Order: sequence, then structure tokens, then C-alpha cells
Amino acid sequence: MLLCAVLLLPSGAGAQTAVDAATAAFNDDVHAAAGIACSACHRSAAAGIYAAPARTAIAPLCATCHGDAAFMRQFDPQVRVDQFLQYQTSGHGKRMSAGDGRVATCSDCHGSHGVKRVRDARSPVAPLNAAATCGRCHGDAARMAPFLRQATAPGEWSASVHAAALVKRGDTSAPTCVSCHGSHGAAPPGVASVVNVCAQCHLREAELFRASPKRDIFEAIGQAECLACHGNHRIESPMDAWVGVQEGAVCTQCHDASGDSGAAIADIRQRLDGLQTALSAADLVLTRAEHAGMLVEDGRLALQTAREHQVQSRALVHAFATAPFATTAAEGLTAARRAHEAGDAAMRELQFRRQGLGIATLLILAFLVTLGVKIRRLPPG
Ligand code: HEC
Ligand code: HEC
Ligand code: HEC
Ligand code: HEC
Ligand code: HEC
Ligand code: HEC
Ligand code: HEC
Ligand code: HEC
Repeated sequence: MLLCAVLLLPSGAGAQTAVDAATAAFNDDVHAAAGIACSACHRSAAAGIYAAPARTAIAPLCATCHGDAAFMRQFDPQVRVDQFLQYQTSGHGKRMSAGDGRVATCSDCHGSHGVKRVRDARSPVAPLNAAATCGRCHGDAARMAPFLRQATAPGEWSASVHAAALVKRGDTSAPTCVSCHGSHGAAPPGVASVVNVCAQCHLREAELFRASPKRDIFEAIGQAECLACHGNHRIESPMDAWVGVQEGAVCTQCHDASGDSGAAIADIRQRLDGLQTALSAADLVLTRAEHAGMLVEDGRLALQTAREHQVQSRALVHAFATAPFATTAAEGLTAARRAHEAGDAAMRELQFRRQGLGIATLLILAFLVTLGVKIRRLPPG
């Protein structure tokens, strides 16, 4: 037993550095602030011995307090005390309780000294830090290989629209690892529950999908709902060109031009393109009119309406049927044509004014010339 303890303990100067480092970090720690001492986690601290607990012992250690409702409510009556229970349902917790220390435990995600509140921006699980915290293991191929898992999730997520929104634009409503997997109960969503994960934030698309024929079709072929076309980690900004039966379209994974569905897909694409072309053309003529100093408020308003219909029709792609998509796309097209007509009218008006101005200038010139001639012909006075 003594031999064991000696082997586990770091020795000499190294041990002192570790104690100093822990003590320094503990100065700014939520536990220190709550009046908790080193000895709460290191039972032998009184003897000056700070042995790192075995990895499999850490979660039960944290849970002695965090699973004890009566104790924790002294500090905060609203506090949650289910972290350990949730953890035990996760892939991490199951392996850990089976004695495998290579998976995540409490201190991997929260630290052990210098622990911050989870709402603190410096917490390793804060929205901007979580991907790096998970990535220490999930981005390390050598660590994931023994579990036959890829280490691609963090890199792929970093290249996604979600990371761009969160990291570059500071939009904390964009998801990081824990938004989709959960924290203590971290698990991959099952094939049939992905739609629920995405629906937390993309309700419109999820509702359309659930009401569409694709729902039963995907269930029958065992295809995960949103993932077939969007993927899970490297989610990109979608384009109209994704719809179609030609190369580059996501539908070609399963469809070609044949049959009713092929025809429906080609029709949807044609309407999307038609709307986009009409929008661009209307925008061009309105911009030209504005540069020439014309007021085209009505045209701009119609263009705005057309854009809103375009946004709606893109979402309506998730109905995977011609209706109600076609109606909205047609309304968008009508509004875009109205905008174009307003631009054309402004340009005609401009033309008219220019002609009018030209004639007026000519008349004035003619008048001045006549006047000049008349003046010269006047007898000298
Ligand atoms: C909330 C629980 C907790 C408290 C309080 C705590 N520790 Fe720790 N300590 C841990 C855990 C968990 C580990 C093992 C994981 C690790 O190394 O991060 C550890 C590891 C250590 C180690 C070994 C580090 C190594 O590299 O081997 C030292 C030394 C240590 N703690 C010192 C202290 C000192 C000194 C204090 C008080 C100032 C303290 N600890 C307070 C949980 C705690
Ligand atoms: C895989 C990473 C991970 C592990 C492992 C983990 N946590 Fe957490 N923990 C989080 C995240 C992320 C949050 C932020 C809130 C959320 O998303 O649930 C959090 C929140 C908390 C909170 C704040 C209250 C709450 O529940 O929101 C406490 C306390 C906590 N964890 C304690 C623990 C304890 C104790 C363990 C071990 C039994 C543990 N955590 C294991 C990631 C983790
Ligand atoms: C001796 C009891 C005790 C132990 C052991 C303990 N904690 Fe705590 N922990 C607390 C108390 C008390 C708080 C402060 C609660 C409050 O004020 O809301 C706290 C707060 C936290 C918070 C901040 C929660 C929040 O509100 O954001 C985290 C994270 C945390 N502990 C993680 C851990 C981890 C990880 C371990 C194990 C390494 C651990 N705790 C072990 C008592 C303990
Ligand atoms: C200390 C390393 C480590 C950290 C940190 C870590 N994980 Fe893991 N995680 C693993 C390992 C190893 C596995 C593989 C376990 C297996 O295959 O059974 C795993 C498995 C998973 C799984 C699959 C579980 C299952 O049931 O199939 C998910 C999801 C997951 N982790 C999410 C996360 C998230 C989210 C975070 C950050 C909040 C995180 N992990 C942090 C090591 C870690
Ligand atoms: C937008 C939601 C979302 C985000 C954000 C996200 N994931 Fe996932 N992840 C998923 C979905 C959905 C699956 C299930 C894939 C399947 O069933 O084919 C998955 C699967 C996984 C798996 C298990 C599959 C495997 O090959 O091991 C791990 C581990 C994982 N993700 C880790 C992470 C990590 C780490 C992050 C952060 C860097 C992250 N995920 C961010 C949605 C997400
Ligand atoms: C926690 C909320 C949240 C979750 C969960 C979530 N997303 Fe997102 N998603 C966002 C935010 C925020 C944006 C950025 C919107 C923007 O660019 O304005 C976004 C952007 C997108 C975009 C690009 C939209 C565009 O117009 O460029 C797609 C596609 C997308 N998400 C698909 C998914 C899928 C599929 C899932 C599930 C695997 C998912 N999202 C889960 C919040 C979420
Ligand atoms: C993972 C495979 C898969 C992908 C990807 C896919 N589909 Fe399908 N879809 C099917 C299957 C299977 C059917 C049923 C057989 C059929 O009608 O061709 C179907 C049927 C349809 C139908 C007819 C539905 C009905 O009323 O019965 C439409 C419309 C359709 N898909 C549109 C699309 C569009 C648009 C895309 C691309 C944005 C797409 N699909 C991508 C598998 C897929
Ligand atoms: C069969 C393929 C397919 C499936 C399944 C699918 N999408 Fe899409 N999604 C698309 C296409 C194609 C676009 C681009 C439409 C466009 O821009 O014309 C798109 C666009 C989006 C956008 C961008 C905003 C918008 O509505 O234009 C979001 C967000 C989105 N999808 C979320 C989801 C979610 C959430 C699910 C699951 C419920 C899902 N998608 C399922 C093909 C699919």
C-alpha cells in the first residue's frame, strides 16, 4: 500500500511545482469561492500529499457533492444535481465505469483546479471553447483510432456555416458540439432523431420535412433525415444548384431524370432559377434608374417582396413536392416582374424627361439666336 502511494506520487521538485501550480490556479476557482479546501478532493492533503485521483475515481469524487441535492442547495436552491446520472448514460460514462480511463470525465471538460462557472466565458465548456475542449480527444487521430472512430468532427465543424456564425460573427445561437450532442449525456443522435436536433433551431425546415413524403421514404431506406443532403459536421451554405438531376445536385445521390420524381425535381429547379434570374434582372434595372437619379420606391418594395418569397420558396424545397412550393415561387416571380416593370417605367420616364429637356434646350437656343439677331438689327441709338 505504501509502495503504491510512493509510486503514484510525483517526487521531489516536480511534486512541489504541481502543488504550486494547483494552488495558484485554485485562487480563481468556483470551489475556493464556495469555501471548499484542497482536502475536499485530496483526503491526504493534511499530510501534505496531493495524489491525483485515479481517472475512474474522478466522476464519483465530484458526485459526492454534485449529486448531493441537500448539500448543493445550500449554495444555490436552483442547482442541478443530475450531472453524474446523465454522465453514466453517455458513451463516456459507460466506458469509464467499466474501467476504461481513455474517455472523458468531469475534469477533462471542466478542469480540476481553476474551475469556472459554465456561464463564464473562460470556462472550457463556454460556447467559444467547447469545440477545442472536445477536440483535444475527438481531433486526435491516435486517441480515437483504438475506438475505430475518426478524428474529423472538430475540423469539419470548424469549416461549417455554424462555426462561421459562432466564431466569426459571435452568434451564440449557432451550435457547437454540445448543442447537438448534449454535455453530460453526450451521444450521437440516432438516425430517426437527427431531425429533432436540427429542429431546435430550424423549425420551419423540420416541420416541412416531417409533413413531406420524404419522411416515410427515408425511414424505409434507413436514411438519417437532414444528413442525406446537409451532412452533420461540415454543414455548408445551400444553393439552388443543389436541387436537380444534374451533376452537383444533392438529389442525384438517389434520383435521375427519369420518372415522376425526376420530372418534379427538374420543375422545382427550373422555378428556382427562373425566380433568381427575374430578381437579378429587376435589381439591375432598378439600380440603373437610381444611379440616374430616379425614385423607384415602389420597385424596391416589390423587389423586397420577391426576395421574401424566394427565401420562403427555398425553405419550401423541404416539402419535396411541387405544391406548395410552386405557388410561392410564382408569387415571387410576379413580384419580381412588378419590380422590373417599375424600373422600366422609371427609365422610360427618364428618357421622356431627357427628350423634353432636349427640346426645351433647343427652343431656348432658337429663341436666344433670334433675339441676338434682332438686337443686332436694331438701329444704333
Ligand atoms: C474539486 C476537487 C479538487 C480540489 C478542491 C483540488 N483538487 Fe487537486 N486534483 C483534483 C483532480 C480531479 C486531480 C487529477 C486530475 C488532474 O490532474 O487535473 C487533481 C490533481 C492534483 C495534483 C496532481 C497533479 C499532477 O500533475 O499529478 C496536485 C499536486 C493537486 N491536485 C493539488 C491540489 C491542491 C494544492 C489543491 C488546493 C489548493 C487542490 N489540488 C484542490 C481535484 C481537486
Ligand atoms: C463531455 C464534457 C463534460 C463532462 C464529461 C462533464 N461535463 Fe459538466 N458540463 C459540460 C457542459 C458543456 C456544461 C454546460 C451546460 C450544459 O450544456 O449542460 C456542463 C455543466 C456542468 C455544471 C453546471 C450545472 C449544469 O448542470 O448545467 C456542473 C455543476 C457540472 N457540469 C459538473 C459536472 C460533473 C460533476 C461531471 C462529472 C460527473 C461533469 N460535469 C462532466 C460538459 C461536461
Ligand atoms: C466538496 C464538494 C464539491 C466537490 C467534491 C466538487 N464540487 Fe464542484 N462545486 C461545489 C460547490 C459548492 C459549487 C458552487 C455551487 C454554486 O455556488 O452554485 C461547485 C461548483 C462547480 C462548478 C460550477 C457550476 C456552475 O454553476 O457553473 C463546476 C463546473 C464544478 N463545480 C465542477 C466540479 C468538478 C469537475 C468536480 C470534481 C473534479 C467538483 N466540482 C467537485 C462543490 C463541490
Ligand atoms: C478525454 C478525451 C475526451 C474528451 C475531452 C471528449 N471525449 Fe467524447 N469520446 C472520447 C472517446 C475515447 C470516445 C469513444 C468511446 C467509444 O467508442 O465507446 C468518445 C465518444 C464520444 C461520443 C460517442 C458516444 C457513443 O455513445 O457512441 C460522442 C457523441 C462524444 N464522445 C462527444 C463528445 C463531446 C461533445 C465532447 C466535448 C463536450 C467530448 N466528447 C469530449 C473521448 C473524449
Ligand atoms: C449541428 C449538429 C452537430 C454539431 C454542432 C456537432 N455534431 Fe457531432 N454529430 C452530429 C450528428 C447528427 C451525428 C450523427 C451522425 C450519424 O448518425 O450518421 C454526429 C456524430 C458524432 C460522433 C459519433 C460518430 C463518430 O464517427 O464517431 C461524434 C464523436 C461527434 N459527432 C462529435 C462531435 C464533436 C466533437 C463536435 C464539435 C467539434 C460535434 N460532434 C459537433 C451532429 C452534430
Ligand atoms: C443551436 C441552434 C442550431 C442547431 C441545433 C442547428 N443549427 Fe443550423 N444554423 C444555426 C444558425 C444560428 C445558423 C446561421 C444562420 C445564418 O447564417 O444566418 C445555421 C445555419 C445553417 C445552415 C445554412 C443556412 C444558410 O442559409 O446559409 C444550414 C443548411 C443548417 N444550419 C443546417 C442544420 C442542420 C442540418 C442541423 C442539424 C444537424 C442544424 N443546422 C442544427 C443554428 C442551429
Ligand atoms: C437518400 C436518397 C434520396 C435523396 C438524397 C433524395 N431523394 Fe427524393 N426520393 C427518394 C426515394 C427513394 C423516393 C421514392 C421513389 C421515387 O419516387 O423516386 C423519393 C421521392 C421523391 C419525390 C416524389 C415524392 C412523392 O410524392 O412520392 C420527390 C418530389 C423527391 N423525391 C424530391 C427530391 C429532391 C428535390 C431531392 C434533392 C433536394 C431529393 N428528392 C433527394 C430518395 C431520395
Ligand atoms: C433531400 C435533401 C434535403 C434534405 C433531406 C434536407 N434538406 Fe435542407 N436544403 C436542401 C436544399 C437543396 C436546400 C437549398 C434550397 C435552395 O437554396 O434553393 C436546403 C436548404 C436548407 C437550409 C437553408 C435555409 C433554407 O431554408 O433555404 C436549412 C436551414 C436547411 N436546409 C435545413 C434542413 C433541415 C433542418 C433538414 C432536416 C429536417 C433538412 N434541411 C433536410 C436539401 C435538403
